Amino acid sequence: MTEPASPAASRWALPPHDDWSTPFADLLLQQLDLRPGLKILDVASGHGIPAFYLAEQVGPTGTVVAVDASRGQVASARAIQRDDLPWLRFECLDMRALPASFPAFQRITGNLSVMFFRPHRFEAVRGLLEHLEPGGQLVLTFPSLGTFDSLWQRIDQEMSRHGLTTERERLATHVAERPSAEEARGWLERLEMERISIVERPLEVASGSGQRFLQHPLLRGGFLDDAYECFDDARLADQVMTRVSEDLESMTPLIAQRCALSGWKRCNQ
Ligand SMILES: C[S@@+](CC[C@H](N)C(=O)[O-])C[C@H]1O[C@@H](n2cnc3c(N)ncnc32)[C@H](O)[C@@H]1O
Repeated sequence: MTEPASPAASRWALPPHDDWSTPFADLLLQQLDLRPGLKILDVASGHGIPAFYLAEQVGPTGTVVAVDASRGQVASARAIQRDDLPWLRFECLDMRALPASFPAFQRITGNLSVMFFRPHRFEAVRGLLEHLEPGGQLVLTFPSLGTFDSLWQRIDQEMSRHGLTTERERLATHVAERPSAEEARGWLERLEMERISIVERPLEVASGSGQRFLQHPLLRGGFLDDAYECFDDARLADQVMTRVSEDLESMTPLIAQRCALSGWKRCNQ
């Protein structure tokens, strides 16, 4: 277990009851050079993990601009913020296409962000670097290739039992499409960043079986959906996924790979 990077006494500490965003954000904070007075851009900011904590740490001499493509997420984050931390601003923007007039920052962070850089992940990272000052640091996290492999293997086994060749091929494509830690390193190297560091840490995710598995908010949002999308026949999908969900033992422990990538933009870039 890694120690949380945020002290418990902090008013805007990462929420301890969040079993997904907080462990990824912990890893992000462990990589980030964070100090008072910094100008930070936080992308895919959602409800403000870790934007609130970052804003508290940079203090009133710093700035945090947090961007998310969803109006609903931005509205929720603003509702949580109310009049606190006035140097923190939530904006509704697509992180893959920030306006050229958007300023440059000393740090860019993005917790659970890289999976939303699709379809052109390298271009999305390159676009972000245009808003990073020379000598600034980029730190992004995402669940890397290897996440929930036991789940994919069990679904593949069940598909194979039903002779579902096309569905198996689609599943393999979905799984392979997830970026690996090494692919992420390649992006930062191509962008000639310095002091590149890529870390991966396992995270065990607990789930009940049956409907509790199929409706698990984390698995359903973004992981199981990929499996359902492999089927043309919804009834067959339900049949296969129900069988899988009732065989939790063969998939546990369910391990996600938390990956954090960090790099520094050259001073002369
Ligand atoms: C998994 S959530 C992470 C939120 C937060 N950083 C956290 O750790 O809880 C991903 C967020 O990315 C946002 N998002 C997806 N595509 C985006 C895009 N192209 N530009 C900006 N935000 C995007 C979603 O609206 C969502 O709030």
